[in-house]
Amino acid sequence: MVFRPAPASGAPLLAALLLALLPAASGRAADPFFPYGVASGDPETHSVILWTRIESGKPSVSLRYEVATDPDFRRVVASGEVETGPARDYTAKADVTGLEPGTRYFYRWSGEGHRSPTGRTETLPERADRFRIAVASCQHYGAGFYTAYRSIAADQPDLLVHLGDWIYEFPTYGAAAARPDPVGVAEDLSSYRAKHRLYRSDPDFQRALQSVPVAAIWDDHEVQNDYSGKAARFYAPRRLQAAYQAYFEYVPIRPQEEFRIYRSFRIGDLAELFLTDGRQYRDEDVWHPAFFPPPDAARQALAPGRSMLGAAQRDWLLTGLSRSPALWKLIGSGDLMMDLRLHGLPVSVDSWDGFAWEKEQILAAIAAKQIRNVLVLSGDTHVFSYGELRYQGKPVALEVGTAGISSPAGKLERAAEVEAANPHILFSDRDHRGYVLLDIGREAIEVSFYGFSTVLEPDGRRILLRRFRIPRS
Ligand SMILES: [Fe+2]
Repeated sequence: MVFRPAPASGAPLLAALLLALLPAASGRAADPFFPYGVASGDPETHSVILWTRIESGKPSVSLRYEVATDPDFRRVVASGEVETGPARDYTAKADVTGLEPGTRYFYRWSGEGHRSPTGRTETLPERADRFRIAVASCQHYGAGFYTAYRSIAADQPDLLVHLGDWIYEFPTYGAAAARPDPVGVAEDLSSYRAKHRLYRSDPDFQRALQSVPVAAIWDDHEVQNDYSGKAARFYAPRRLQAAYQAYFEYVPIRPQEEFRIYRSFRIGDLAELFLTDGRQYRDEDVWHPAFFPPPDAARQALAPGRSMLGAAQRDWLLTGLSRSPALWKLIGSGDLMMDLRLHGLPVSVDSWDGFAWEKEQILAAIAAKQIRNVLVLSGDTHVFSYGELRYQGKPVALEVGTAGISSPAGKLERAAEVEAANPHILFSDRDHRGYVLLDIGREAIEVSFYGFSTVLEPDGRRILLRRFRIPRS
């Protein structure tokens, strides 16, 4: 059965039709004052974050935003002014409140005689029977084109969930080179900002962010490959601060104290989405590089107490899961949670297998409290995957891993052996880049894995790799 999501409950049909007329980011010359277009994120039932960035050298610039229920802005329902300047690299955010639940809105920015492109966003519903989420991650700019984002915009999801590696701190990814990255290696505030600007210059990425609100978390490459926030002795705290600051400036995430990004989103009583931060509070990985650690290091990964989330976030997640009245519990994770083991030992210790004790705590709680309909969404691997999360041999949750928009997957050593040893992984595809579409309904979630024929050139062809129906239990 193929689900088609109904328009958001408060959206007049006319608005849905007019959506097709929304100017494509790449379809017209961008105003040079707003070269990165517009974006929205972290929708709630009555509020949403709006974002833009201007090109200016002034010490302070005042920008005005308008939110309307029609694309011609005849019915403006919210407006306001925001100051920006060099201290935030001329990015601007507004937390627009007082909106109606489950409603589509159009928005734009203006200032200094210029006007931005029009964006489209949507608040979360108070009640919903259907909800469509596109899942993205891992978008190395040099390694490939963002054709997937053009498809995501066309799919008209209600929410784009980004699971990390929004930028990569390094310019070239092995032999995979589709386009130059002139920024080089990011390691301080100005180079992280430049990296965000480069990635946001992509017209397909702009188009997606202009047409759907995003809820994003970071993984490692927003700072540095395989880093752990609790291992600052290796990773200069100033670099971490710079990377986090640039992320909060450029990603339409709601401002939080001390760069907290773990948070949850309620989609009526249909679903709750728990987004986690697997990096900031992480204990040091037991081995670098992550794959095929020597047996001693692999055994350390199983040691009690090792934490990826930190105690406070783990408590938040476990409490949230057990108390959530939502039918579906979705957990967004930067890293793969399913076991990937050989002879009982982790194949990679940068993923949840490197923190096996904490993973066990989470799965044990799901089993003990009989929390049903838990689906983990993960990124990082650059491989599409689908399978079971098992506790004491029994499946207690499912996981969907997305391959990411453009980052390449290397060849896995001993792949046949690994596959045979991990039969709970029911599907995987390492040959395609792309995204995952979730059509969430009351009876089932339909999961579509979309790959692309190529990302090394623009305009790769979309391929439906697999589709699964997850019935409610
Ligand atoms: Fe990645």
